[in-house]
Amino acid sequence: MAEDPIPAQLGPYEIEVEEGKRYAWCRCGRSKKQPLCDGSHKDTGLEPLLFTAEKTETLYLCGCKDTGDEPFCDGSHLMM
Ligand code: FES
Repeated sequence: MAEDPIPAQLGPYEIEVEEGKRYAWCRCGRSKKQPLCDGSHKDTGLEPLLFTAEKTETLYLCGCKDTGDEPFCDGSHLMM
C-alpha cells in the first residue's frame, strides 16, 4: 500500500518551465529538489506526475502535496 504524501512546504513553488520540456513533479513530498522529483519516492508506492510544459512560463507547483489540481497549487495548503 502506498504511503501518504508529506508536505514539503505549505505553499507553492515558483518554477520557470521551458516549452516542450518534460518535468516530473514530486508527489510524495520527500524530494530534496522540490518541487521536482529526485527519486526519493522509491519504496513509498508513490510516483511523480510527469508533464510537458506547453509554453515557456512561470508556474506555481504544489508544495503541500494535497492539491486537487496536480501539479498546480490550488490553495489547499490554506486548509492545513
Ligand atoms: Fe517525490 Fe519522486 S521524490 S515523487
